[in-house]
Amino acid sequence: MKNIVLIGFMGVGKGSVAREVVKHSHYITVDTDDLIESMENKKIKTIFEEDGEKYFRNLEKNIAKWLESSVKNTLISTGGGFYKQENLKKIGTIVLLDSPFDEIIKRIKEHPNAAKKLKKRPLLKDLEKANKLYDERRSGYLKLADIVIDVTNKNPEMCSKELLKKVKKYGHKH
Ligand code: S3P
Repeated sequence: MKNIVLIGFMGVGKGSVAREVVKHSHYITVDTDDLIESMENKKIKTIFEEDGEKYFRNLEKNIAKWLESSVKNTLISTGGGFYKQENLKKIGTIVLLDSPFDEIIKRIKEHPNAAKKLKKRPLLKDLEKANKLYDERRSGYLKLADIVIDVTNKNPEMCSKELLKKVKKYGHKH
């Protein structure tokens, strides 16, 4: 089993889909934000506030190198900006969770923990800026993706089934 690298914009449901895939497969999952938080013993929000975004991106780079050299057979869920890592393709099969910006925001706002979800993401504080960031990133996400899953109006279980099916098909071809 090659690693699966889940990419996509903040709030698109990478974590929820990863947890669902784990329930229906033999994959173990790790999350790049969780790895960074445990290494630094700080929340992402605090790292952004105290150390700045550049420092955070450098931590992501270290994690990317480690994933490439040391992690196998794993479903890797990533932060929304992790796709910029140069060695991304070497880490595993890239799966993009895709949805229009408005749908992503709608999904977050409908969540019972909406306030917490918005608060913990520094780059979602200003929705106008976040929308711009989305527009800047989307073509990059699409270019990198081996597999694209449109998550609009689908729950995590539906997305996870689609993911496993497409990964299997992709694996036969590559
Ligand atoms: C970021 C996304 C966040 C987190 C950090 C920066 C981004 O992860 O890594 O706040 O640049 O898009 P999620 O995509 O899990 O929210």
